[in-house]
Amino acid sequence: MAIDNNKLVQILRKVADPQSGNDIISMRLVEDLKLEQDSVSFSVNTAGLKDTEKFQLHENIQSAILSEYPEAKVNIHFVNKNETKRPLGQVKNIIAIASGKGGVGKSTVSVNLALGLKELGARVGLIDADLYGPSLPTMLGIQDLKPKIREMYGRHRIEPIEKYGIQTISIGNIVEADKAVVLRGPRLGGIIKQFINEVLWPELDYLVIDLPPGTGDIQLSLVQTVPVTAAVIVTTPQEVAVSDAIKAMNMFRLENINVPIVGVVENMSWFIPEDMPDKKYKIFGEGGGKNLAKASNSVLLAQLPLITDVRVASDNGEPVVIQENHLAREYYIEMAKKTMQQVAVRNEVLAPTQVVGVNIQQS
Ligand SMILES: Nc1ncnc2c1ncn2[C@@H]1O[C@H](COP(=O)(O)OP(=O)(O)OP(=O)(O)O)[C@@H](O)[C@H]1O
Ligand SMILES: [Mg+2]
Repeated sequence: MAIDNNKLVQILRKVADPQSGNDIISMRLVEDLKLEQDSVSFSVNTAGLKDTEKFQLHENIQSAILSEYPEAKVNIHFVNKNETKRPLGQVKNIIAIASGKGGVGKSTVSVNLALGLKELGARVGLIDADLYGPSLPTMLGIQDLKPKIREMYGRHRIEPIEKYGIQTISIGNIVEADKAVVLRGPRLGGIIKQFINEVLWPELDYLVIDLPPGTGDIQLSLVQTVPVTAAVIVTTPQEVAVSDAIKAMNMFRLENINVPIVGVVENMSWFIPEDMPDKKYKIFGEGGGKNLAKASNSVLLAQLPLITDVRVASDNGEPVVIQENHLAREYYIEMAKKTMQQVAVRNEVLAPTQVVGVNIQQS
């Protein structure tokens, strides 16, 4: 029986890539597919796989095809094309949320941006890269959950935790909060790499990364592990916050790092008392977000009000975006829309980001 091209692709969609857990068609690992009656040949990119995994993959492909076409002559070439296989190839956009100072609202922005993008129809993941002070488990109300560990092709893989329709991982779900603070230097980089390479991320439109404040080991490990599509800088309106934010921003703009800044979020722009929602008190001054946007040659993605109930929502694990009638919800949805637009512009105008190590080798 002649092999049907579409049917063959459907069969290969059921075979998992040992590295990502996604199927080998979605991961674009299959190339040069040739069909002739009951013979089929194609190549599979196995860069980064161990021999045992290659062996298993070969067997899985064979048996998937033979179960549908028992007479088929199957010819699989394994090729090693490292340059075409980037980490997180199943993720379209990786967005880092950064700031100079601590406590300006990165985590609140990250959670609500992720949920806002999801609300707009995107497939979204969220990494808590703040390994010293993970706050996303509380903000999402998943403090008591542990990610499932799955064995795939003899390797242990971590399944992200799903909440409110987004996929997420945090050190806070893996170790006790008081043990996370003892993690140092090289260990931190190792964990960031694990969050990228050993978590079974599905196909995603956006992966949002909540960073710790400043420009330390974690930021560096991130850009050395994965091509970060864009960075968003969070600041409060006052001048001192802006000068710190410029330092954070400059790290992304270093020649060999080169992650575009797509925008600035000004948080706590004015205080809105809940009993007088028409009032605006500019308690942290004004202009910071606009100035920073100018300095980074990007745009102001949002000015977010300071509202007691935004803090309460985070503490209760029910972020404002999932609360239909929340006073602040629209601000975050608008921020997500604008971020989506700016990332699209970035992808239109600029070349894809390179992982930092690769750049250094080229220069
Ligand atoms: N717009 C806002 N209105 C009210 N409270 C807010 C707002 N933004 C943030 N908060 C609150 O301020 C505190 C700090 O916010 P958050 O944890 O998001 O900051 P961060 O920049 O991630 O801090 P860190 O640098 O410690 O990681 C939290 O309690 C949060 O709920
Ligand atoms: Mg934080």
